[in-house]
Amino acid sequence: MNIQAPKGTKDMLPKDAYKWHYVENKFRELSEQYGIKEIRTPMFEHTELFTRGVGETTDVVQKEMYTFEDKGGRSITLKPEGTAPSVRAFIESSLYNEAQPTKLYYFIPAFRYENVQKGRLRQFHQYGVEIFGSQEASIDAEGISIAMRALDELGLKNLSLNINSLGCPDCRKKFNDALKSFLKENYDDLCPTCKSRFERNPMRILDCKEEKCKKIAKNAPTILDYICDDCKNHFEELKKYLDAIGIKYTIDPYIVRGLDYYTKTVFEIIYKDLTVCGGGRYDKLIEELGGPDMPAFGFAAGLERLIMTLESEGIEIPRSDYVDLYVGAMGDDAKIEAFKIVNALRAKGLKCDSDHMNRSVKASMKYANKTGARFTVVLGENELQAGTAKLKRMEDGQQFEVDLKDLDSIVKVVK
Ligand code: HAM
Repeated sequence: MNIQAPKGTKDMLPKDAYKWHYVENKFRELSEQYGIKEIRTPMFEHTELFTRGVGETTDVVQKEMYTFEDKGGRSITLKPEGTAPSVRAFIESSLYNEAQPTKLYYFIPAFRYENVQKGRLRQFHQYGVEIFGSQEASIDAEGISIAMRALDELGLKNLSLNINSLGCPDCRKKFNDALKSFLKENYDDLCPTCKSRFERNPMRILDCKEEKCKKIAKNAPTILDYICDDCKNHFEELKKYLDAIGIKYTIDPYIVRGLDYYTKTVFEIIYKDLTVCGGGRYDKLIEELGGPDMPAFGFAAGLERLIMTLESEGIEIPRSDYVDLYVGAMGDDAKIEAFKIVNALRAKGLKCDSDHMNRSVKASMKYANKTGARFTVVLGENELQAGTAKLKRMEDGQQFEVDLKDLDSIVKVVK
């Protein structure tokens, strides 16, 4: 039998766990600084949440959802993203009755049946932020600043922040009409996918990666020429807030995003053609999903893409997975003593490990070296009799004599 992980999924192996923890901790730390609280929603939801929330015409809903019927005959979908579930929970628990804005963050696995390629998986993970209840452009700027700061503090410098406005449904309608009359003349030259987008979602044609569609899109009208005064002002305000905190951006009128709920601001953070983070405002979604008429803003960053980017930039992620002290033992009495000491040292907050493989002194040292233990000690009859032992600092071989009865002295040396 040779069972492998399903295509488009990846194990996070123990050797990489510290990288994930580092990135997740950075996002948690910043979320707290910005007064954002964690939300956890189920791994699956009623399919209708996504067909209505993400939009019938999107690729996600049309082609990519993991949908199945459960044993009770309900149509269930593994969540392809975290916005619609957060809105559902916000409405269901009446969080709109609490002081606003409501600021939420989450870490989720997300599932999309996509063509697997570099940076594109079928199960991937996101850190996301959703902020409900404020229509101020300062919220858009604050959201973008969390993402930019996190990426900057993680060490990523070669990123570009691209922003655009998709306007409100009124300006969008005018824009779609103008776009369609332009595209009509080039219809025959569009790729088959874009031909099918022409009626249901013409804006997506602007985002097509096919060369011939890109060429057509270059001369197409852009949404920024069609947005109403209110949307224009919002976009101007956003730029002022970003300028105020020194965040550099490029205006990219071709950002349309793949999900249907966006209004006004949209943005993407790109590293060498790969979108690491994306989001925007979605002022109609809460109402569309049965809640009050409340504005919202959010974004999500793909954690696999982020870690891949850190690796390809050669950014060293600090390791936090080494034990402070490895305790080897020779002989039965020493083994019990080592077990006891390690147990007590752990209670004092040291990360330690002892031998469970009957290793010789030499093998113990080799193991400690391989696993990156910072200090090592091997207990034998001599050490037990003397009540003292020598801790070896692996980095430079320096030895420190410690009293085995005085565990605090061991902690002092190792910490
Ligand atoms: P999204 O652009 O679909 O937006 O996904 C956000 C990020 O998730 C992307 O920028 C990318 O880094 C990562 N991602 C998406 N698909 C994949 C995939 N197949 N494999 C690996 N990584 C992927 C959303 O999901 C929105 N819910 C963001 C949002 C929150 N908008 C408002 N609030």
